[in-house]
Amino acid sequence: MTESNNIRTLSVDIGGSGVKVMILNQQGNPISDRLRVNTPSVGTPTSIIAEIVNLAAQAGEFERVSVGFPGVVRSGVTETAANLHPEWIGFDLATSLTQHLNKPVRVINDADMQGLGAIAGRGVELVITLGTGFGSALFIDGKLVPNLEMGHHPFRKGETYEEQLGRSTLEDIGEKKWNNRVKKAIASLQHLFNYDYLYIGGGEAKRINLNLPPNIKLIPNVTGLLGGIALWYDWQHIPQIKI
Ligand code: BGC
Repeated sequence: MTESNNIRTLSVDIGGSGVKVMILNQQGNPISDRLRVNTPSVGTPTSIIAEIVNLAAQAGEFERVSVGFPGVVRSGVTETAANLHPEWIGFDLATSLTQHLNKPVRVINDADMQGLGAIAGRGVELVITLGTGFGSALFIDGKLVPNLEMGHHPFRKGETYEEQLGRSTLEDIGEKKWNNRVKKAIASLQHLFNYDYLYIGGGEAKRINLNLPPNIKLIPNVTGLLGGIALWYDWQHIPQIKI
């Protein structure tokens, strides 16, 4: 195999509780271990970039970088950061990480990246992630509608999906109540999107204890990293609009 058809991608998943990396080959298969560190308690751009640079050095060789970030991302700039430090608002993560790693970097929302690793590419596919925050991603025939932020949308009892279903709430209310709420959230999303498929990922998806219909699939957390390969597909045009 020549160098040119063996481009390796460092895939990075920035989360509210962990920063994870893995190297993917040109086909999108893992060729390194998945490395993880806890997200620094003060999750500023400086502290998180330092963790990514450390993890990248341990992971091995790569030629390009894909990043999933837990907030709205437009043209490599992070616009919101509900579970990280406010210094992320308006931060040019793609440019900064390119300077640190000396490799081309593409950045999208973490749920969008997870979805790219999960979808079948047909029909209306919705993805939600249950972790520190509540992530969401929407695809029409495999094409991403970027930055769907269901998490901060009203859900019930005057609270948002993230307030009702985020990890800190799960710890407060326990798995039984949380599962009831997940069931209600699925019903609400079904009515709104009439999706063909719903994928549920994120660190807490394993705590779902519901009988799910065949068009709802639980996806492993590593999907968040596997989706990184799709940021470099020519056909998956991720809008990079400068405003
Ligand atoms: C953010 C989303 C993100 C989700 C999961 C939410 O708080 O607003 O952009 O996808 O958390 O990390």
